[in-house]
Amino acid sequence: MAVGGSPEEVTREGPRHIAIIMDGNGRWAAQRGLPPSAGHKAGVERIRDLVSACKERGVEALTLFAFSSENWQRPPKEVELLMSLFYSYLRKEAVRMKEEGVRLRVIGRRDRFSPRLRRAIEEAETVTADGTQGNLVIAADYGGQWDIVAAARRLAEEVAAGNRTPDSITEQTLAEYVQLADLPPVDLLIRSSGEQRISNFILWQAAYSEFYFTDALWPDFGEGELDAAIAAYSRRDRRYGGRSGDGGLKAQA
Ligand code: IPE
Ligand code: IPE
Ligand code: MG
Repeated sequence: MAVGGSPEEVTREGPRHIAIIMDGNGRWAAQRGLPPSAGHKAGVERIRDLVSACKERGVEALTLFAFSSENWQRPPKEVELLMSLFYSYLRKEAVRMKEEGVRLRVIGRRDRFSPRLRRAIEEAETVTADGTQGNLVIAADYGGQWDIVAAARRLAEEVAAGNRTPDSITEQTLAEYVQLADLPPVDLLIRSSGEQRISNFILWQAAYSEFYFTDALWPDFGEGELDAAIAAYSRRDRRYGGRSGDGGLKAQA
């Protein structure tokens, strides 16, 4: 994809994996004199079109931050509403995703969800399991710190069982044990609503992601915003600690 004309502009392939911190539902609702629940409902509506838009643009994986490890601190009514929106989203969208060939998975802790929601997650994952046209990952009760701890714990168990030595644990090993390991690296990490922080999202996996911040509130995030983010990405020079032009081959080797 060629973008722009000036010699210093880098032309590159589009992102293979996009991750999004879907933020700003509460402020969107407040601007309209509505409760946060109205913002969350409007926010969920953006997801369907976004999945199709990513597919059309050749994006292989889309990871959405829907509920963080820390979001349990919200008022109980809001948490309840978010859980019920998640449940109905899964029930409604799994069949559509199967038809579109999109594989769905959910990353994060599951033990704090109700048995009913856990079953809906498992069913949605099973129904879409043979999708080959793209991946949708929903991060729910997810925290980047939890992810790294879970990986470390599994490795510790292997050491305790005598199946590996501490010396065998390298960056590559840990990379295989955190979530999303089987997908392309996250090329582009977008956060809506103007906040410029990671809020405990993919800490490990974003080591060399390109960050893109937009002031748009999540319920206003549409195809135009997506294209602006992809266009910005295409102008970035990803050096991976090396020199311009080496394509970061060393970092990815
Ligand atoms: C993001 O919207 C959705 C979740 C965190 C679940 P917010 O509810 O955080 O929206 P703001 O940040 O209050 O505007
Ligand atoms: C991050 O947004 C989590 C999600 C979008 C799911 P928050 O609104 O929870 O983050 P902070 O509190 O502004 O850092
Ligand atoms: Mg927020």
